[in-house]
Order: sequence, then C-alpha cells, then structure tokens
Amino acid sequence: MKQDELKKLVGYKAVDWIHDGMIVGLGTGSTVKYMINALARKIKNEHLNITGVVTSNQTANQARLLGIKLKSVDAVDHIDLTIDGADEISSDYQGIKGGGAALLFEKIVATNSKKNIWIVDQSKLVDQLGAFPLPVEVIPYGSRQLFSSFKAKGFHPEFRITTMGEKRKTDSGNFIIDLHLGKISKPEKMATYLKSQVGVVEHGLFLNTVNTVVAGYDDGPRVFE
Ligand code: A5P
Repeated sequence: MKQDELKKLVGYKAVDWIHDGMIVGLGTGSTVKYMINALARKIKNEHLNITGVVTSNQTANQARLLGIKLKSVDAVDHIDLTIDGADEISSDYQGIKGGGAALLFEKIVATNSKKNIWIVDQSKLVDQLGAFPLPVEVIPYGSRQLFSSFKAKGFHPEFRITTMGEKRKTDSGNFIIDLHLGKISKPEKMATYLKSQVGVVEHGLFLNTVNTVVAGYDDGPRVFE
C-alpha cells in the first residue's frame, strides 16, 4: 500500500475510539485529515453529540466545513481524547511532532487530554528519534541569536521556509527552526535544554504523552497500547 493509503487506513480506524458525548482533541496533518472526514461521517450516521477542540487553523477550517461542533481549549473543562499524527515514534513511544508547524497548540491540547492516540503509517516507527528534523517554535525577535547558538552547539539548524521563500509563520505568528540532529540519544535532556532557552516557545519532542499508537501496515492497522 502507498503511504497515503496507510494514513487513510489509520485515520478511519481511529474513530472507533470516539463515542457519543465526548470532547475530542483534533490534531493536525495529512493523517488526521482522514480521521476528521471519518468523524464527520460517524457523527452524521450515528447522530452523535461530539465537540472538537482543534490544534490549528487548518484543522478548524476542515472541521467547520464538515459541520463538526468546535470549542476552544479554554472553553472546555476536560478533553476525553485527542487523536493526532506524529512524525516519528521511537520504540519506547516517545515522539517528534511539528512537521506541520502546529506543535504548540498540539502540545497544549495533548497535555490537557485524558488520553492521546497517535495515528501513523508504519514508516514513522523508528528505533531512536532524530532522523526527522526536530521542530522548535521560536519568537521572531531574537530568533537569529537562537539560530546562531543552535549552530554553535552543532544542531544544524534551519529556519522553516515557505514555498514563497519566506520564513514560515505558525498560527501564533512565531518561526520554526528545524534541528537536523540525526539521532537524539537523550530526548529528556534535549527537551530540558530547549525549554531553558529564552525565545523558545515550544519544541516538537512529545515525551510521555501517548497512550495508544495506531500504525498502518499493508495487512491492516496495528494497535499498540
Ligand atoms: C503537525 O504539526 C504535526 O505534528 C503532524 O501531526 C505530524 O507532522 C504528522 O503529519 P502527517 O500526518 O501529515 O504525516
């Protein structure tokens, strides 16, 4: 199966975890897009009362078009479940997210969720994190200085650039610096370091976050929990 078909497979499978009355965090990305389509169908067919909490403008636009009821993360008293994609998941279930530049809102919604499910095609499962560049969301003011200090540390930083050749802005108006680390042998240490840097808003290491991983393989979805 092609990668996109595997994404569809897990996107459709993930709605099995969504039940009537739930408040559901809706992640961002090409895999989640399939889940949201399936969720809209499920709500309609089964007459469900579901409230979505979005993690990006992109997801909000799709969900609104499909008629899914939405609330802001600050307007709910809990989130039952969040379903999101991931860029890499290690064998001990730590993750890198933010390939779609939505890591900040994704982390806020994930942190406030009782349960987190990640849906990925099998290519995202790795032994060790780091082959995928680690996204770091930074305040524009002073971002050159941060870039230089990441460079001096040997992190091979790169500003995320749009197809128009401009620095990519997140939904919060920040920049993304991708760190080309190759391997992250101590994710906790890296996370602590990044969080301590003035001007860093958030980073894409999602540690001890996920409860269930649904991975798409040629012979069907496999659930790891
Ligand atoms: C968005 O910022 C990301 O965290 C996505 O969830 C992640 O990049 C997975 O995206 P795809 O489902 O498009 O691969």
